[in-house]
Amino acid sequence: MVKSSPTLALGVLFTLCLVSAQAPPGFDFESTCTSLASTLSGSIPNTTVFFSSLIPAGSSITFPDTDPSCQAPGSSQIVPVDTCRVTMAVSTSDQGSGIQMETWLPRNWTGRFLSTGNGGEAGCIQYGDMAYGSTLGFATVGANGGHNGTSGRAFLNHPEVLKDFVSRSIHTNVVVGKQVTEMFYGVPHTKSYYLGCSTGGRQGLKSVQDFPDDFDGVIAGAAAADYNHLQGRNGNFFLITGPSNASTFLSVSQWVNIVHPDVLKQCDGIDKVLDGIVEDPALCDYDPSGLICEGNSTVNCISEAQAETIRKVFSPFFIKGQFAFPRVEPGTESLPQLFASGTIFGLTANWFRFVVFSDPNFDVNTLGPDDWELAQELDPFNVSTFNGDISTFKNRDGKLITYHGQADQLIAPGNTPRYYEHVLRTMGLDFGQMDEFYRSFRISGMGHCSGGVGAWEIGQTLGAVAGSVLPGGDGLSPDRNVLMAMVRWVEEGVAPDTILGAKFVNDDPDEGVQFSRRHCRLPMRNTFVGGNSTLPESWSCR
Ligand SMILES: *[C@@H]1O[C@H](CO)[C@@H](O)[C@H](O)[C@H]1NC(C)=O
Ligand SMILES: *[C@@H]1O[C@H](CO)[C@@H](O)[C@H](O)[C@H]1NC(C)=O
Ligand SMILES: *[C@@H]1O[C@H](CO)[C@@H](O)[C@H](O)[C@H]1NC(C)=O
Ligand SMILES: *[C@@H]1O[C@H](CO)[C@@H](O)[C@H](O)[C@H]1NC(C)=O
Ligand SMILES: *[C@@H]1O[C@H](CO)[C@@H](O)[C@H](O)[C@H]1NC(C)=O
Ligand SMILES: *[C@@H]1O[C@H](CO)[C@@H](O)[C@H](O)[C@H]1NC(C)=O
Ligand SMILES: *[C@@H]1O[C@H](CO)[C@@H](O)[C@H](O)[C@H]1NC(C)=O
Repeated sequence: MVKSSPTLALGVLFTLCLVSAQAPPGFDFESTCTSLASTLSGSIPNTTVFFSSLIPAGSSITFPDTDPSCQAPGSSQIVPVDTCRVTMAVSTSDQGSGIQMETWLPRNWTGRFLSTGNGGEAGCIQYGDMAYGSTLGFATVGANGGHNGTSGRAFLNHPEVLKDFVSRSIHTNVVVGKQVTEMFYGVPHTKSYYLGCSTGGRQGLKSVQDFPDDFDGVIAGAAAADYNHLQGRNGNFFLITGPSNASTFLSVSQWVNIVHPDVLKQCDGIDKVLDGIVEDPALCDYDPSGLICEGNSTVNCISEAQAETIRKVFSPFFIKGQFAFPRVEPGTESLPQLFASGTIFGLTANWFRFVVFSDPNFDVNTLGPDDWELAQELDPFNVSTFNGDISTFKNRDGKLITYHGQADQLIAPGNTPRYYEHVLRTMGLDFGQMDEFYRSFRISGMGHCSGGVGAWEIGQTLGAVAGSVLPGGDGLSPDRNVLMAMVRWVEEGVAPDTILGAKFVNDDPDEGVQFSRRHCRLPMRNTFVGGNSTLPESWSCR
């Protein structure tokens, strides 16, 4: 067996473009791929292999068998590089639970392994992330979280399915995927990485907390950590706004056209730059009282009851006087999906129907503080994902990067520094000691995992890479690409001090970069130091 050589790995890194497979000489990619399904058959416990097939570079593939809520019928994924795709099912208990998983093995393998994550109430392999990992030369795995489709209905009376969602899907996927990788290339992987956002961020933190040996480097974006309180908080907006005919309710149009400009008027200039980006919304102490209608005017103004709704929406979430979750930040009213529907938030409703009460007919309109409290007490399989002791991960030299869009409209961005500080306090570390293994970045003007008015493109997905993703492309610079920043940290010991985000013209990578901005890690704040605000040099982390 050819042992992978650290010197080679370093050489690969320094050049970054000259990625080369670490498979042994004489390795025949095509025939090894074609025969992989039968090679694997019966050799991995509890695993059924469906097929292995070669995807030639540039092909567009479709997913006719996936749940329609995951992939619109007929939707496709372009795979930029030669990839061997293997599909499998792995049973996870004797109660009928199991995961669907895939391993994508690129011809130009760097020796690295990558696990992708899920979103929402999971249930879908994220094929865009699979293609991204493979393109960057990682043997890449993805799984369906233990059930198909975006609804949590599969959890109903199936605790083993819920257990897969909480953590076992990712862990099983990694254990099996690493074996498939070694059986394909003939040598084991060198380093193991994780990249996920939202539920995927929570899954990444769960791995760090409970399966610290799975990864050398974990990137957890906008993590849905403190999960039970998050469900309660998102459900609680319905109690604040009421239904759409209530006097306390504001329509989407009122949030977007009346409140949002007023938030910008009060808070965009705090960072000394009027660019529509509230650089640090935690500093925005928004007061809606100037919007209250005067005299008999009813146009472009709101009632006192609506002003009170706005104040409550932008306040931290307390359950019976106990702090439970940070506030949604002013700025997110431009995408007010949590608090302008006049109904209870869908994911929260499903969580209570299918998990907390195991009753699909439960009247979710009656939910309130007792129920938010109950959900946290139940905390099935520790889905809360808020253990502050990650010393085992730290001691095995694991590295953790978290990031969070400051204009996240679904998960309050304050939750990410909150977990960081929880770890700092639990482990008794100072910022310098945290810096050695855990760095957390605040991405201004970024919505939930992607999108927004800020320089949000940091290489977190295939579509968020500045410049070409192909070997030799400038999109792989560790300064601009959070995944390659993690690779450099793990393999060269060079930690990212900042992440250089890009805003593409029309959010289209092909149209080029409109402006760039460096994002700071905790505890620093991005500060305008003068000059042209669209240039990264005009800002400094202080
Ligand atoms: C999920 O979908 C796959 C097809 O993509 C199917 O083979 C599998 O049986 C489904 N799993 C469940 C639990 O329904
Ligand atoms: C295979 O599945 C069975 C039943 O769920 C379980 O007891 C066993 O530990 C699994 N084997 C491996 C190697 O994971
Ligand atoms: C809002 O509509 C519901 C259902 O149509 C009705 O029962 C309720 O009385 C209405 N409330 C107000 C404040 O108009
Ligand atoms: C308020 O209504 C009165 C009577 O309808 C009208 O004369 C007056 O111009 C209105 N004032 C404003 C500020 O619109
Ligand atoms: C949840 O976590 C706690 C503390 O980390 C641990 O004691 C407990 O066994 C865990 N429970 C489950 C079901 O994993
Ligand atoms: C593999 O990488 C090499 C070196 O960057 C590149 O020249 C070649 O085009 C790549 N091949 C494929 C099939 O992607
Ligand atoms: C600021 O820099 C951008 C990008 O280089 C440029 O397009 C723009 O004209 C500059 N603005 C000013 C006021 O100099």
